[in-house]
Amino acid sequence: MKSLLLSACLSLAFAPTAMAQTIAGSGVIPATIGNSAERAIGFAASAPADAALVIVMTDAALPPLNGVTLGAGERQAITAAIAAASFDGKAGSTLSLRGIGAHPRILLVGAGVSPSSLALAEAGGKAAQELKSEAQPVVVAGAYGDANAADVAYGFALGQYRFDRYQTVGKKTPATGAATFVGANPSGAEAAFANRWRPLADGVRLSRDLANEPANVIYPETFVTEVRKSLAGVAGVSIEVLDEAAMRKLGMGTIVGVGQGSPRGSRLLLVRYRGAGSPDAPTAFVGKGITFDSGGLSLKPGAGMGNMKGDMSGAASVMGAVVSLAKSRAPVHVVGVAALAENMPDGNAQRPGDVTRTMSGKTIEMVNADAEGRLVLADANEYVAKAYKPKAIVNIATLTGAVVGALDNSYAGLFARDEALAARLTAAGTASGEELWRLPLHKDYAERMKSDIADIRNSATGQGPGASLGAHFIGFFVDEATPWAHLDIAGVNRSEKATSLVPKGMTGFGVRLLDQFARSE
Ligand code: BES
Ligand code: ZN
Ligand code: MN
Repeated sequence: MKSLLLSACLSLAFAPTAMAQTIAGSGVIPATIGNSAERAIGFAASAPADAALVIVMTDAALPPLNGVTLGAGERQAITAAIAAASFDGKAGSTLSLRGIGAHPRILLVGAGVSPSSLALAEAGGKAAQELKSEAQPVVVAGAYGDANAADVAYGFALGQYRFDRYQTVGKKTPATGAATFVGANPSGAEAAFANRWRPLADGVRLSRDLANEPANVIYPETFVTEVRKSLAGVAGVSIEVLDEAAMRKLGMGTIVGVGQGSPRGSRLLLVRYRGAGSPDAPTAFVGKGITFDSGGLSLKPGAGMGNMKGDMSGAASVMGAVVSLAKSRAPVHVVGVAALAENMPDGNAQRPGDVTRTMSGKTIEMVNADAEGRLVLADANEYVAKAYKPKAIVNIATLTGAVVGALDNSYAGLFARDEALAARLTAAGTASGEELWRLPLHKDYAERMKSDIADIRNSATGQGPGASLGAHFIGFFVDEATPWAHLDIAGVNRSEKATSLVPKGMTGFGVRLLDQFARSE
């Protein structure tokens, strides 16, 4: 009794005072999402001698440095340190030196012999991470041509990402000194960065922020708000949002159904970007946007459930890619779709065994409330196909634990009914550094997903090729004539350890891939 009373008082104390829309527990919602303090990125022909100096290396030889003057003594000291440490400039290697000349620190970063654009970006990312707690401004120079300074800066932008805004105790002051990339043609590098890489880094950041923010901050309604903010004033963009009433009216039973155990209403967000000179028919990117996946009444075990705040990573990366394409004025026509719902168990939640219906009238026996991603994608795919007549549909979703067993965090799973689409996606993965591995879609899978009472069930009985069965289910709702692919990113949307371009936490996987794919026509 006493504890009941106490919890009643507590919930009263935390109860929101205003508006039906306000959700209990959302009192910490900040005005913006993500961190704001980071190094500004700039380009110059020369740089001060008292900044931390990063030198991008391709081998053991100190390269000629445009814009940075090193005295003979400093050169000698660096060369001696390289020899003593057997530093060879291989990709991923670093050597940190202090006490040489006026530079508080000199950091050598390896990019390997004849580095690709991606290898240069990785060197930039590595530098950003190594200098995370270096208060001074940073100057970056080295063995890259002026044309490639923007690549290094791009990597630096991705690598310096942090999400520590909720740490208030004992936190180091974040490094905010500017990062200047020196070279003979700073305005050329600046333009390349501003036109292509800054928008892409903004898109990746949006995806990471949306996924890293906890589920009491980002839920369907606030996801939409944040995407609107990110695209405010960007030319060529139009936004459509369906709320629950609109979706019910259209007969879209799955997105509303998955969200019906949550007080936070479901949404379908569609963002069209049409660049100048682009084709009439858009390509649709459709992302799973489960802002929290408790498993619903098919409740997940407690351990690791908190990671399910990232179950909207597919939707987040779709929006990140649209931000990149739109802000860079790419000559492409895309529609990004986020199927947004929170999967929670309560007295109103859908029960295993319930039958639901998608917009087209197809029926689903919902036997497992934890197989919810495929449900929301069914309605989202049907709606975008009908309303936007896309020439291809690409789904991206944290869909199954099974894909993690198959591919770990090395590749996202690719499923496709269209060979040309599969080939283009695979190539975009290689070029962007977000790699895909194709898994099967066999016609026999239909048998495993048969329902006795409806057109299909959302989960097979017993063991089976889980990732493929999930893909089969989604494909059941896409017209065979429409080229369609599905990316299962459950193994790659979150990283336990930092790599040069991807700090620990939510990775933003898919933004770079979809951006690259859209430009590859
Ligand atoms: N969001 C999960 C998949 C997931 C698992 C993402 C691990 C990231 C890490 C998805 O909704 C889910 O619960 N899938 C089930 C499907 C099953 C019930 C058919 C799964 O993989 O167990
Ligand atoms: Zn899920
Ligand atoms: Mn689930």
